[in-house]
Amino acid sequence: MKLKIFNDDVINVKKVEVIQSIMALMFNSMDAIRDQTEKWIKLRILNGEKEIAFIIQDSGPRIPDEIAGKMMLPFFITKPPDKSTGLGLSLAKTIAKSYRGDLLYDIESPYTTFMFRLSK
Ligand SMILES: Nc1ncnc2c1ncn2[C@@H]1O[C@H](COP(=O)(O)OP(=O)(O)O)[C@@H](O)[C@H]1O
Ligand SMILES: [Mg+2]
Repeated sequence: MKLKIFNDDVINVKKVEVIQSIMALMFNSMDAIRDQTEKWIKLRILNGEKEIAFIIQDSGPRIPDEIAGKMMLPFFITKPPDKSTGLGLSLAKTIAKSYRGDLLYDIESPYTTFMFRLSK
């Protein structure tokens, strides 16, 4: 299936895989902001010449380096196991890589920021 982004840019991807990945990131952000006073989630789409990047940012607490280093491994969780599969990030990363992209966590950003990138 082709994913149509903006007007006429089309990349060949399985739409369901991309939607599933973005949803997984959004659900994580929803979990992260639940108990915060400042609550927001931003989704930005950067449509570059060679790649498309979906940037998901939330107002949740900073992820400790210790956790950030392991969170994309399958089954790694910090949530109660009945509310968690531990597969959201690892699946999104696998999907991004299958389109010569990647899922990256921005350690420099003051807010929690994930970048889901796909090559065109
Ligand atoms: N936006 C986020 N803010 C804080 N921690 C996050 C965020 N996204 C992911 N994480 C951390 O990464 C872990 C793994 O995420 P994920 O693979 O989606 O599994 P799950 O959401 O089922 O726990 C989470 O349990 C959490 O510790
Ligand atoms: Mg998740």
